[in-house]
Amino acid sequence: MCGIVGYIGKRQATGFLLDGLSKLEYRGYDSAGIAILEKDGPRVEKCMGRLDALRKKIEGRVPTGTVGIGHTRWATHGRPSDHNAHPHTDPTGKFVVVHNGIVENYLSLKEDMLAHGEQFSSETDTEVLAHLFANYYKGNMEDAVHRVLKTIRGSYSLAFMCAAEPDKIICTKKDNPLVVGLGKDENYIASDIPAIISSTRDTYIMNDGEIAIVTADGVKLTDLKGNPITKEIFKVNWNAEAAEKGGFEHFMLKEIYEQPKSIRDTMRGRVNGKTGKLNFTELNWNKDFLKDIHKIFIVACGTAYHAGIVGKCYIEQLAGIPVEVDIASEFRYRNPIVDKHTLTIVISQSGETSDTLAALREAKRLGSHTLGVTNVVGSAVGREADQVVYTYAGPEIAVASTKAYTTQLLVMLMLAIYMGNLKENLDSALSEDLVKGIVEIPELIHRQVESVDQIKVFARKYGSAEDAFFLGRGLDYAVALEGALKLKEISYIHAEAYAAGELKHGTLALIVQRVPVIVIATQEDIYDKTLSNIQEVKARDASVIAIGYEGDEKLAKYADHVIYIPRTGKYLAPLLSVLPLQLLAYYAALTRGCDVDKPRNLAKSVTVE
Ligand code: AGP
Repeated sequence: MCGIVGYIGKRQATGFLLDGLSKLEYRGYDSAGIAILEKDGPRVEKCMGRLDALRKKIEGRVPTGTVGIGHTRWATHGRPSDHNAHPHTDPTGKFVVVHNGIVENYLSLKEDMLAHGEQFSSETDTEVLAHLFANYYKGNMEDAVHRVLKTIRGSYSLAFMCAAEPDKIICTKKDNPLVVGLGKDENYIASDIPAIISSTRDTYIMNDGEIAIVTADGVKLTDLKGNPITKEIFKVNWNAEAAEKGGFEHFMLKEIYEQPKSIRDTMRGRVNGKTGKLNFTELNWNKDFLKDIHKIFIVACGTAYHAGIVGKCYIEQLAGIPVEVDIASEFRYRNPIVDKHTLTIVISQSGETSDTLAALREAKRLGSHTLGVTNVVGSAVGREADQVVYTYAGPEIAVASTKAYTTQLLVMLMLAIYMGNLKENLDSALSEDLVKGIVEIPELIHRQVESVDQIKVFARKYGSAEDAFFLGRGLDYAVALEGALKLKEISYIHAEAYAAGELKHGTLALIVQRVPVIVIATQEDIYDKTLSNIQEVKARDASVIAIGYEGDEKLAKYADHVIYIPRTGKYLAPLLSVLPLQLLAYYAALTRGCDVDKPRNLAKSVTVE
């Protein structure tokens, strides 16, 4: 979590940093700060709260200077406060650091320093880095940074600046993302591309153990020993507009509406609607490769984990390979039975989630073949997995994931069809039908998200509820899990998802008058069972909102309200049934006056364990 940004050039740095931080606020928004190299040294301005609080704080007394670094924080060590906000400095104020990550050995380092009489002004791990930087500085900033990196353990992306060498910013990373942007007579650093995209599309995506010495005229890259390295420039293929709200009130709403495009982009070049054929040129697997795979693990967190649960149904049913789905933070510590006959698929929008990355590394260590499914080209998952399939959702800024989820579902479905065909497990007529069905999905999504008025009414009606339940069976249950997460994440309504048949084993005790129960009923083979479950909760006076296919009149007889989605096949239904759930969560959050894009206590990218 946390976002870092840096500027060095001829422009005033403050404006650039504040603008960059506004694009990184999704990474954390407990506090914000900047440090600008003014004539007589670094001037640090920081405060608790959103970026606007910082803007207000410096109104009429904006720091002036053409070199600076900035930070937006998601608290790990030390509660959100002015003191704990970054940047941090040594006691002289001449050495400045911003940090995203965790310094694991900071306590012992801090104890040593305290024993030597050094004073600290925050509770953070990062302040220790500023002290180390100052203590190690003997006239050469690069040497000091090398020594700091040798001393610390943990995860980080870091930017260093000091009064004695005002012509450079040094940055580096381990396990947390960092990009260096290349401009004309100016250069930039950032945790993520949106912060610099309005100035450049030419970037270096930094790898662990690489150091960038960034000046106004150029960028020198070295390894941790100071040996020069060369790197390819990565040209970003999207523009600043893609990272803006584009007229929508929130990023989340914009991203919900972008789903037809992101689905189209993700299927492009992979499916052919005319022939009904599908391919993954990036994989070039064959029958023998799959014969050797006895089991698949899907490992992820949060929404990506929910996409994995859908993926399990797809792969088991279409390709006939057994699949286990694991929460990444569990997988990494539970000694999973993984070997060279397993394929581990990790799913991650950001490609930087700490637990997911650790799980990926663990799977590799145990000899598994690994496949990353990620949305961010150049991300750690993209680089470290043996093979990678990209979702092309475009930048997802809202903390609540929407378009990334549906593209993940699509990739899982396409993978299942691809594997089913290779294994000759999938009937060719079904395969063709599925591919042709996939091609129609963007238009169906478009239709679905346009019919939103009914959902606004439900959001108003049930927006004051304390609890909500989401029910479904099979693939509908998998989607219910995601619906519940969306609702609790942004509206703070307590929500739980249950396999509809499981409710009576305890949870039914919580179903009381008017509690909203959202039931998804698209899976025709188990439809009647789901109807019985609706009756069970209706008998306890719950208010049932059902999600079913257009033309399903039966459902209307059982439920209080029905949200209809276009009729499609069993496997494609999750791509449509999740849309009303995303919209319901969004409008419920609005009704309750919640900050939709920046829900409390959360951040977009969880790069700490
Ligand atoms: C979803 O709305 C979340 N905010 C969260 O669960 C997210 O999906 C999870 O943290 C995983 O992120 P990743 O896909 O970037 O790895």
